[in-house]
Amino acid sequence: MDERLAALRAWQLDPYPHYRRARETAGLTFVPELDAWLVSRAQDVREVLRWPAEFSSANALTPDVMPGRDALAVLATGFGGYRAVVASDGDAHRRLRAPVNRGLTAAQVASSLPYATQRVAALLGGLLPAGRGELMRDYARRLPGQVIGRLLGLEPADVPAVVAGSYRAESLLFQPLDPEEQIRAAQDVVAMQHLLDSYARARRRDPRADLISETVYALAPGAGELSREQRNEIASQLQNLLAAGHFTTSALLGTTLLHLLRHREQWQLIVERPGLIPAAIEEAARYDSPVQGFRRITTRPVMLAGTELPAGASVFVAFGSANRDEHAVKDPDVFDITREPVRHLAFGYGVHGCPGHQLAEEQLRLTLEAFTARLPQLRLDPARPARMRPSMIHRSPAELHTVW
Ligand code: HEM
Repeated sequence: MDERLAALRAWQLDPYPHYRRARETAGLTFVPELDAWLVSRAQDVREVLRWPAEFSSANALTPDVMPGRDALAVLATGFGGYRAVVASDGDAHRRLRAPVNRGLTAAQVASSLPYATQRVAALLGGLLPAGRGELMRDYARRLPGQVIGRLLGLEPADVPAVVAGSYRAESLLFQPLDPEEQIRAAQDVVAMQHLLDSYARARRRDPRADLISETVYALAPGAGELSREQRNEIASQLQNLLAAGHFTTSALLGTTLLHLLRHREQWQLIVERPGLIPAAIEEAARYDSPVQGFRRITTRPVMLAGTELPAGASVFVAFGSANRDEHAVKDPDVFDITREPVRHLAFGYGVHGCPGHQLAEEQLRLTLEAFTARLPQLRLDPARPARMRPSMIHRSPAELHTVW
């Protein structure tokens, strides 16, 4: 791993002391590890999110690692290359966001709950006899892909391949892989894109009530065969929607279980008072936010928190820091599911605010209801303590070893 990436990894593993120092320092702090100005206070984070014309999202998905030439050549044989909704601005953003909003209404989310409930029961039922388990691998990384896969309209049999392809895309862009491994990862990503493209073409011929049909309809109005550009754009959006939908929710499932079990008395509290489950989810999302932040880039010179930024300056908008800001939250470093409700920023705010938060929270709720009812004795395995994954966009335990 090169020096830059090693420094970034150390930063990512525990960003909280860095955030605190930045909040205590006047103005904005430039962080070389992130190659961006850190926006750390809740008030300043909201300010940036209120001004999308000044703070463009064009750089939101800047990867930690640029794939090599050979891997890029493989990627060129897939479908993609278009800017995702989260990295677009203005009219282009509104156009991409419309089908996502239509596919994730309260009614759509409600309609997915019977399936999600059934998947929660099946995954948990499969775990029970063992008496111990690694909950990231066997639960948290499985449920969200199945649920978002269903809303997209994927056949259940295709979900594992699509989710695996999505993990490969993440490792290609965020992990240091050797050149051979990069090529293999790129091949897996391309295979996933071909599968998503085959769905898009099938829905063009035969639309259904699902998110793939919504996306095809919105991005390629009309009938007829999809053009190559349309296929690239649709596959890009589907790939991103899938990733936005499952990585984040897996991460929050993991961190919520981790912090409730680390503060075992609070786990006991939700076992005894399931009415506290929604508050526990909000507190976990606030305390250790899966999406620690996204970048923005200034479109013109602006003054933020007393720092003058030129046009083209990269800022890292740290939701994870805003959620620990002592001016916005009392005792922010304390995990307390009984605290007064806090207006946290774990799901963002403003025009890019998360359209999937309700879907994510429902999966958390179903999970905690089922786990507290069927595994009230759940504990962290003291012999195998959890380590966090170094990531600013999917912060979660790498593994979560538990016993019951
Ligand atoms: C715990 C789970 C989740 C967390 C913590 C989370 C967090 C966020 C955050 C912070 C943003 C704002 C990004 C920005 O301002 O640049 C965002 C946007 C987004 N989220 Fe989520 N999200 C979660 C679950 C989901 C789910 C389940 C879906 C889809 C089914 C989803 C789809 C999206 C999309 C498409 C965007 C981009 C919206 C836009 O740019 O207009 N998210 N999410």
